[in-house]
Amino acid sequence: MEYSSTHSEIIYSVQPEVDIESIIRQYQPGKVFVVTEENVFKLWFDKLPKLKTLPCVVIPSGEDNKGLGSVELIWEFLSSKGADRKSLLINVGGGMLTDLGGFAASTFKRGVDFINVPTTLLAQVDASVGGKTGINFRGLKNEIGTFNVPRSVIISSTFLQTLDQQNLLSGFAEMVKHGLIYSSEHFLELCNVDFENLDLKSFQEIIRHSVQVKEYFVQQDPTEKNIRKALNFGHTIGHALESLFLEQHRPVLHGYAVAWGMMAELYLSQAVCGLDPESSVDICDWISSMYGKISITSEDFEELYMLMGHDKKNEAGRINFTLISSPGNFEINQESSKELIFEALRFLQNSLSHENA
Ligand SMILES: NC(=O)c1ccc[n+]([C@@H]2O[C@H](COP(=O)([O-])OP(=O)(O)OC[C@H]3O[C@@H](n4cnc5c(N)ncnc54)[C@H](O)[C@@H]3O)[C@@H](O)[C@H]2O)c1
Ligand SMILES: [Zn+2]
Repeated sequence: MEYSSTHSEIIYSVQPEVDIESIIRQYQPGKVFVVTEENVFKLWFDKLPKLKTLPCVVIPSGEDNKGLGSVELIWEFLSSKGADRKSLLINVGGGMLTDLGGFAASTFKRGVDFINVPTTLLAQVDASVGGKTGINFRGLKNEIGTFNVPRSVIISSTFLQTLDQQNLLSGFAEMVKHGLIYSSEHFLELCNVDFENLDLKSFQEIIRHSVQVKEYFVQQDPTEKNIRKALNFGHTIGHALESLFLEQHRPVLHGYAVAWGMMAELYLSQAVCGLDPESSVDICDWISSMYGKISITSEDFEELYMLMGHDKKNEAGRINFTLISSPGNFEINQESSKELIFEALRFLQNSLSHENA
């Protein structure tokens, strides 16, 4: 099948192996390879017998392994098994693995085909679609990477059966972001998700709606020159929180930092973009009911402000925000005074403090 170099085919799959097989058949025997990581291999590969027969390299799990050492393992594996430019690499795992495998495939012999089979919610709705691949380098996140789309992404909520609640919520935050920036309908359906009794079959449809939002922005602006920045909502403050908590040896999952970042940026959205205060308060209450409490002190504000200044998305030294004027309507390239940012952080501090619980 012909496929575009800027657009992936996204397959919402009930039986991922069947869909993977129909892609494999388009390649010569012996030219299809698999990369996965330990947790996913242990949990899923006995249930994926066809994949298990293919040559496979298993990388240790966790973000610490998204580096050059693991890229080398994949390159060595491909090289020793005789992979050539007509080969296919199948990446099976969370965002760590799809970023890593995508990068290894993009650079091996100047690029071989790859497909992503995302197994975490975060990877399904965010990391595995959109064509950003990459690895961490010298302590800097995603410092080295490429823009290169997988030929297909196979999304199946089946994999979420084994995912823990925290990682589910981490991915869910990106879905909330998609609803808030672009689709009030999607946002409303997310408000009705019941994690206690999650029906994975209907959740797959909700995942599809979320991916459609991400795809919309990626197609309009594949290399993030302008409106793809909308996807940065919650991330300017979210990334700063993520780095701060890491420095303070109390790391949080990315989606939690983004959820709290969205709360602070909803506050900014009221002040800068005229977001209705009542809906802002309702959304913040809902977010904090899911993502819980964490303490931030006033002494952290300067550090957070400095960290925001280091965000990759800034231009000409200005801190760049994506905000919303109402649920479903984003505004990119927004600015805020330092005073207002501190006010937003104070709001967040009060909302997340245990005294308010
Ligand atoms: N390329 C992009 O556009 C983009 C966007 C967002 C995030 N990312 C990247 O994604 C990464 C984070 O992704 P993530 O949250 O999926 O992390 P991850 O891949 O580390 O997975 C989180 C944990 O879940 C485990 N796991 C994976 N699938 C599982 C399953 N089905 N059942 C049980 N456990 C499972 C993993 O072993 C790991 O312990 C970061 O490296 C981030 O930079 C990339
Ligand atoms: Zn994110």
